[in-house]
Amino acid sequence: MIISITNQKGGVGKTTTAVNLSAGLAEKGLKTLVVDLDPQGNSTMSFTDVTPEEPNMFDVLARTLPMDEIIRQSAESPNLFVAPSRISMAKFEASLVGELDAPYRLKDSVELVADEYDAIIIDTPPTLGLTTVNSLVASTHVLIPIQASYFALEGTDDLLETIDKIKARPNRELRILGVLVTLFDKRTILSRQVFEEIKGVFGDLVFDSVISKSVRLEESPAHRQSIFTYAPSSSGAFEYYQLCEEVLQRVGT
Ligand SMILES: Nc1ncnc2c1ncn2[C@@H]1O[C@H](COP(=O)(O)OP(=O)(O)OP(=O)(O)O)[C@@H](O)[C@H]1O
Ligand SMILES: [Mg+2]
Repeated sequence: MIISITNQKGGVGKTTTAVNLSAGLAEKGLKTLVVDLDPQGNSTMSFTDVTPEEPNMFDVLARTLPMDEIIRQSAESPNLFVAPSRISMAKFEASLVGELDAPYRLKDSVELVADEYDAIIIDTPPTLGLTTVNSLVASTHVLIPIQASYFALEGTDDLLETIDKIKARPNRELRILGVLVTLFDKRTILSRQVFEEIKGVFGDLVFDSVISKSVRLEESPAHRQSIFTYAPSSSGAFEYYQLCEEVLQRVGT
């Protein structure tokens, strides 16, 4: 399974979900690779220290290095590997203008390493540009995090349209794995209203697992740890563990 974590809205919990879903799957014994496609490099930094000059996904997508040369083991788990991103990823979209194979760069690179991993999780930037298109073309599934706040559903039409276009041609296999409600605050009526609204639109696609607002989840990246090593008995660890189980159930492994 190759899962894109995608929503073009910023700050909805894509990286937090990519980091903790992959760490949870690794803890369950799956050899897991996180591919960071965001020039912000937040999921890279959640697991490893990479200096700006170090080879990263830009070099892979520019076809200067094969993917296995940039993949590193995380400090988190011997089962968890990272294909890092750096600020140079910001050059990627402009560098591909006029290249006919532009949407297929990631798919071609991932195919060479896919057999070595049980799960590949791709963290995408908050845009629907060529980088996100590369991610969706390379994936078997897309997981959509949606923040439980006002305007939560704004923009989802554009995202669904992009997914439909990709399913129509470059990647017929792509499936929406599910919609994950994040940053949920059970004390507020708004959070519950937004949850119902999301359910109304996406129905059974919405995961039963909901990710609450949690200080521990916010703190863990600064410690280069997932929630499972940073605060294993926190609610965030419990909720992301539940999500891992649901993901495995839905994928059918
Ligand atoms: N459940 C949560 N509880 C508390 N803070 C959270 C939670 N999920 C994410 N955050 C925090 O909210 C911010 C945005 O989260 P995150 O980086 O995961 O979103 P993103 O969708 O990847 O953002 P971007 O679009 O910029 O890549 C971060 O500071 C993160 O630590
Ligand atoms: Mg992010």
